[in-house]
Amino acid sequence: MRHFLLIALLLTAPAGAQLYEDQLEPAELGIEELGPLATPPAVYVGNEACRPCHEAAYQKWLGTKHARTSVWLHTRMALQVAARHGIKASSPDKSAVCLGCHGTGVDAPAAYRDPGFRIAEGVACEKCHGPCGEHVRLMNLPPPRGPSGLSKPPQDLCYTSCHHPKESHAVVGAKHLTHEQAWAKIEHKEGRIK
Ligand code: HEC
Ligand code: HEC
Ligand code: HEC
Repeated sequence: MRHFLLIALLLTAPAGAQLYEDQLEPAELGIEELGPLATPPAVYVGNEACRPCHEAAYQKWLGTKHARTSVWLHTRMALQVAARHGIKASSPDKSAVCLGCHGTGVDAPAAYRDPGFRIAEGVACEKCHGPCGEHVRLMNLPPPRGPSGLSKPPQDLCYTSCHHPKESHAVVGAKHLTHEQAWAKIEHKEGRIK
């Protein structure tokens, strides 16, 4: 009976509902066009997990387009981009190709995703900083504080991973930004908490 209820719940969950996301492998979550799964260096914990220690950075992020990139996969424009890209997935929000830039950790096995983590939370903290499970563990240890366990995102990360010209995105009509203008929009601090 319990199993039946669980299955019924999963089947009736509305599209996009994130029930038990951390217990399901990417393919079981309905993500299509997957390549080989990754073995991340740590567990993904999700943006909410950063808030107790980096609230200002979180609030800043929430106001940026990075917090909405996976919502865009549900738009009419997404269908146009998908057609130009020639994806094989049934919809852009299910495509590992689209989620590879518009989501975070799409290729992470279930064991590397904490219950609070959502692939569709957009270009999340951990997309740039890497999975932070170990960082959070280290920062919760009693003082004296050791190293953060994180390394700086590489200088060219924005451009090598996502922000390069894409023929499929011509319909988007993105404005060209200089690095300074772009960074000013997403700049965040609070790394050196006393
Ligand atoms: C328990 C508190 C705590 C949590 C939770 C936490 N951090 Fe931190 N974080 C810190 C502290 C303290 C530092 C400063 C470390 C230092 O000065 O060496 C830091 C530093 C950082 C840095 C700078 C790293 C460096 O070495 O310069 C980044 C990036 C960062 N955190 C990202 C995150 C992200 C992303 C999350 C959520 C996934 C997160 N943190 C969750 C406490 C925390
Ligand atoms: C290589 C990374 C990358 C991939 C893969 C990617 N996107 Fe994007 N997408 C971006 C970036 C970066 C932007 C911001 C605008 C720009 O720079 O072109 C964007 C913007 C968009 C927008 C515009 C949102 C708006 O209203 O401004 C849509 C829609 C979109 N992408 C859909 C898709 C779809 C659908 C796919 C899969 C076929 C996809 N993207 C794959 C990086 C990517
Ligand atoms: C688009 C990529 C990106 C996203 C998303 C992002 N960051 Fe960062 N973050 C960076 C970069 C780049 C730096 C600067 C690293 C350096 O010092 O060169 C940085 C710096 C930091 C620092 C250290 C700041 C300092 O004063 O040393 C913290 C803490 C941090 N980020 C936390 C977060 C948290 C929390 C989130 C999510 C709410 C987040 N970041 C989202 C790219 C990103």
